[in-house]
Amino acid sequence: MDIGEFQARITELKEEKNALLLAHNYQVIEIQEIADFIGDSLELCRRAQGVEDADLIIFCGVDFMAETASILNPEKKVVIPTSTARCPMAAMLPMSVLREAKEAHPEAAVVVYVNTLAEAKAEADVTCTSANTAKIIAQLEEDTVLFGPDRNLVWYAARRVPDKTIIPIPDFGHCYVHRFFGEGNEAMELKKRYPDAELLVHPECEPEFQLKADHVLSTGGIYRRCKESDAEMFIIGTEVGMVGRLRREIPGKTFLPAKEYAECSAMKRIDLENTLSALQLEEPVVEVPEETARRARIPIERMLNLSP
Ligand code: 13P
Ligand code: SF4
Repeated sequence: MDIGEFQARITELKEEKNALLLAHNYQVIEIQEIADFIGDSLELCRRAQGVEDADLIIFCGVDFMAETASILNPEKKVVIPTSTARCPMAAMLPMSVLREAKEAHPEAAVVVYVNTLAEAKAEADVTCTSANTAKIIAQLEEDTVLFGPDRNLVWYAARRVPDKTIIPIPDFGHCYVHRFFGEGNEAMELKKRYPDAELLVHPECEPEFQLKADHVLSTGGIYRRCKESDAEMFIIGTEVGMVGRLRREIPGKTFLPAKEYAECSAMKRIDLENTLSALQLEEPVVEVPEETARRARIPIERMLNLSP
């Protein structure tokens, strides 16, 4: 089958089964083209909250995103096209590390980035995404906050909420894809060549790169900024799938990746073939143990209430 045939078959089967296909901004264009909804982690959480308009959810994104959709829909079957789409950063904060940190800092609030496994969320007071980190932390009563796993997001939050003491857990948490940008020297070369271009950078990037950006935003924030800004050219400091979405949906403007090969291999494990198979077989099903899901739902819903 060619791309068009795969897409037609998926669309047909999606209707037959009343399935909802959710896709993250980093998905390949062929998947974006057949998705019912594309967004950043927060937008996907919101869309996945209490889904009533579908019998089945096909989640084209990485493990922690699909788990979150499942936690928010305990009665629904959530299927991920491949269980190998695992975010390495999400695995950097196991429950045991979080428990130790909580014992060492009993006075602290516990905030976990949504890029964590369900077992870590179950230990948290509240979750956050790159779109609402500062907003969530600023609303906490506690002065001390344990926050992880992304070290660069901790740095980003500490600058925006200076009255809180934010302790990173673990010490080394990072996204290898966003590390590719380093201090942003290549992006600055592009900026020299195109001085009117806006430089938009994700908060998982290194602090030195964030400092050079015109705006530091979630992927959903980058999308909105590109639509609303008067600029005609943008340098995009995040995973290249984002550039694909921008080029497809905002045709009048120019989008340059800050690095061509900043590709998330976990996101790219999802393709048309395994998406069709997931829809046909309704597996692999995302399984979160009931008690873990019950406990993890509390900090996720708290986030959605604090950041509607
Ligand atoms: P966003 O929530 O900004 O889409 O980020 C998700 C992610 O995994 C970034 O690497
Ligand atoms: Fe995880 Fe980084 Fe991929 Fe985002 S880009 S899913 S943080 S590995």
